[in-house]
Amino acid sequence: MGRLPPFLLWSLCVTSILSLFLFYSPSPFKVTPKHGLRQKDVLIQPHKDEENCDLLKGHWVPDMKGSSPYTNWSCATIPSSKNCFKNGRKDSDFLKWRWKPDGCELPRFDPKAFLRLVRGKKLAFIGDSVARNHMESLLCLLSQEEIPTDIYKDSEDRFRTWYFPSHDFTLTILWSKFLLIAEERVINGSSTGVFDMHLDRIDDKWTQKLPGIDYAIVSDAHWFFRKMYLYEGANLIGCVYCSEPNVTDLGLGFALRKAFRGALDYINNCKECKDMVTLLRTFSPAHFENGTWDTGGSCRRTSPVGEGEINLGSLDWELRSIQVEEIERARNEGNKRGMKFGALDITRAMLMRPDGHPGSHWDNQWMKGFNDCVHWCMPGPIDAWNDFLMAVLRKEAGLSFD
Ligand SMILES: *[C@@H]1O[C@H](CO)[C@@H](O)[C@H](O)[C@H]1NC(C)=O
Ligand SMILES: *[C@@H]1O[C@H](CO)[C@@H](O)[C@H](O)[C@H]1NC(C)=O
Ligand SMILES: *[C@@H]1O[C@H](CO)[C@@H](O)[C@H](O)[C@H]1NC(C)=O
Ligand SMILES: *[C@@H]1O[C@H](CO)[C@@H](O)[C@H](O)[C@H]1NC(C)=O
Repeated sequence: MGRLPPFLLWSLCVTSILSLFLFYSPSPFKVTPKHGLRQKDVLIQPHKDEENCDLLKGHWVPDMKGSSPYTNWSCATIPSSKNCFKNGRKDSDFLKWRWKPDGCELPRFDPKAFLRLVRGKKLAFIGDSVARNHMESLLCLLSQEEIPTDIYKDSEDRFRTWYFPSHDFTLTILWSKFLLIAEERVINGSSTGVFDMHLDRIDDKWTQKLPGIDYAIVSDAHWFFRKMYLYEGANLIGCVYCSEPNVTDLGLGFALRKAFRGALDYINNCKECKDMVTLLRTFSPAHFENGTWDTGGSCRRTSPVGEGEINLGSLDWELRSIQVEEIERARNEGNKRGMKFGALDITRAMLMRPDGHPGSHWDNQWMKGFNDCVHWCMPGPIDAWNDFLMAVLRKEAGLSFD
């Protein structure tokens, strides 16, 4: 979505469609626990080189034996909007790749080892529908080992909690479009797609749920691609995607930085979050080609692209860099207080995966004719985010599998 021209995007009707698009959240399945913990857990001995390996630098390499760890049969919770095979996707070679960091191996996600690692813990994803997508991928991977119980859902299915009884592990999603408080302007009863964002006010719908969480994975970005007015206190200090005589367009990166700085500062100052490990999942790129999402843009590729084909001069990369700077800043601050922060830096790897999105193969009942090149198919390359998660948790949280 980094390439959407604002003048197209911000017209009233178009933005309301976009809201549906990002809001879209399918009705979930209900699952009940079926089997518990198996007796023998696996032991993984981390290799020395993995401790200091830069996961960011690497390539997708063919992995012909690597069938996906779950299917739409073995995972009952794949939302229809991401169940690409159910929605007609025929090619499956996009599943046969794995991320190979230059300096080491990135071990495949191991649900047994993971559940053992997080026994008695609570992990929260915080963010938008792409954060939800990541949570759903983890849910599918873990449900191959233990079927979770669906224990909480709010009326809009924005906040959702799953519980793995045999491992006393809780997985939750805390919905926030911007991390900050932002109100949509409503004119004569109609949503406008224009937001008033309060840069100094954190969205307390997620912060109030932080106490008791052991691992938080914070992300967000796609809602920032719209017209916004930015406030500090009562003062309008600028705007985004605007052109007005006496308000400065401060740019989307400015607002995104403020949101992450505010959220991470909040966590650093939160007395009830002392033992929490916070990870920031960096920007997840969209891949519309031959048009934008609303002008027929699509994503029909069936294999990854090479390093030479990605653009590190793009807005996508700028947003990722802002996020990495902010998590580094929080980490330096947190070091003084014994708090742990780290990055799940997936942007570069995912820039190479234009083949991983639903495209036209999604449950587009509200959006006929539009392609989803924002979210990710399940199974699909998004599952690799959990390979990253396991490696980063081991490193940043000092967690050991043995
Ligand atoms: C799984 O995908 C197949 C196509 O590969 C499709 O025919 C089937 O309906 C899907 N099943 C579910 C439960 O989604
Ligand atoms: C709101 O509705 C009133 C009465 O129908 C109309 O006069 C006005 O132009 C509308 N305002 C906008 C911004 O559409
Ligand atoms: C812009 O300037 C005009 C004229 O001084 C003023 O009426 C208007 O309220 C200003 N707009 C904002 C958003 O400050
Ligand atoms: C974009 O257009 C080019 C040239 O018409 C075509 O070769 C390519 O397949 C198109 N890409 C997508 C994703 O449709």
